[in-house]
Amino acid sequence: PAGVTRLPLKLLIAAPRGFCAGVDRAIEIVERAIARYGAPVYVRHEIVHNRFVVDSLRAKGAVFVEELDEVPDGVPVVFSAHGVPKAVPAEARDRGLDFLDATCPLVSKVHRQAERQVEAGRHIIFIGHRGHPEVIGTFGQVAAGQMTLVETVDDVEKLSFGDEDALAFLTQTTLSVDDTGMIVQALKARFPQIVGPKAEDICYATSNRQEAVKAIAPQVDLLLVIGAANSSNSVRLVEVAERIGTDARLIQRGSDIEPAWLHGVGTIGLTAGASAPEVLVREVVDRLNSLRTVEEEVITTAEERIVFKLPRQLAD
Ligand code: F3S
Repeated sequence: PAGVTRLPLKLLIAAPRGFCAGVDRAIEIVERAIARYGAPVYVRHEIVHNRFVVDSLRAKGAVFVEELDEVPDGVPVVFSAHGVPKAVPAEARDRGLDFLDATCPLVSKVHRQAERQVEAGRHIIFIGHRGHPEVIGTFGQVAAGQMTLVETVDDVEKLSFGDEDALAFLTQTTLSVDDTGMIVQALKARFPQIVGPKAEDICYATSNRQEAVKAIAPQVDLLLVIGAANSSNSVRLVEVAERIGTDARLIQRGSDIEPAWLHGVGTIGLTAGASAPEVLVREVVDRLNSLRTVEEEVITTAEERIVFKLPRQLAD
């Protein structure tokens, strides 16, 4: 209303943020599959953990299901970016289904390492979050009993292996860099013989987004993270800020922001998880602009140029 002055709000936007190369590729696989084969194209599990992405692909002709037995014969099916146990493509092959694998190549790399370590006679200690589809997919690369999950340093203490046992460790791609570092240290301290990747398997996108939050969080009163509650890398971004002592909130979109959150806030930070599209970032900025006079600044901590090839069936 006239006469009311809107307080300025300084907005620091993290870069990199939002879509990673694996998410870009997964979405393009679904879009190209619809263009090539026609709708419907089935997708096993949310292609990436973002409702907005899923809804927009559904509008274009994608049908999302949780298991392969929900896919009718004769239609193509896409496997999500998180990866699938080996039994899934095997079952698809048995049924003669056309399938497209949107597993992120950085997840597939972990899958191949898992196979290699088991072939070398080692038991795998896998660092990850129980129940996450990526963890289920990676466990499904090897026979039951060849991999043990640890989620915390405490879990490492509870392991019953000895220093004679041949062990290897691998990790989920979307973990907290700092927590994982501590778990790896604990593993190496307890099992000096353990072998693992040079760095953890945490992907470039996950670690870059965490670094960007570390740069911004100390400068802001509140950090907003656009992402879904089941998006591992997004939830980690909230934790990174909180650990620095900065309030942080996970939001799905602009309309989630309550005006009361901005009381007493002079500077606000904004980032987005790897599965959150840039349109939602603009939507959040618009929402903030409707409440306060926003002055935007992008804080860039890394450049990302990585692009992954599409599966052969869909390449031009
Ligand atoms: Fe792949 Fe990392 Fe994205 S594993 S899907 S590049 S968050």
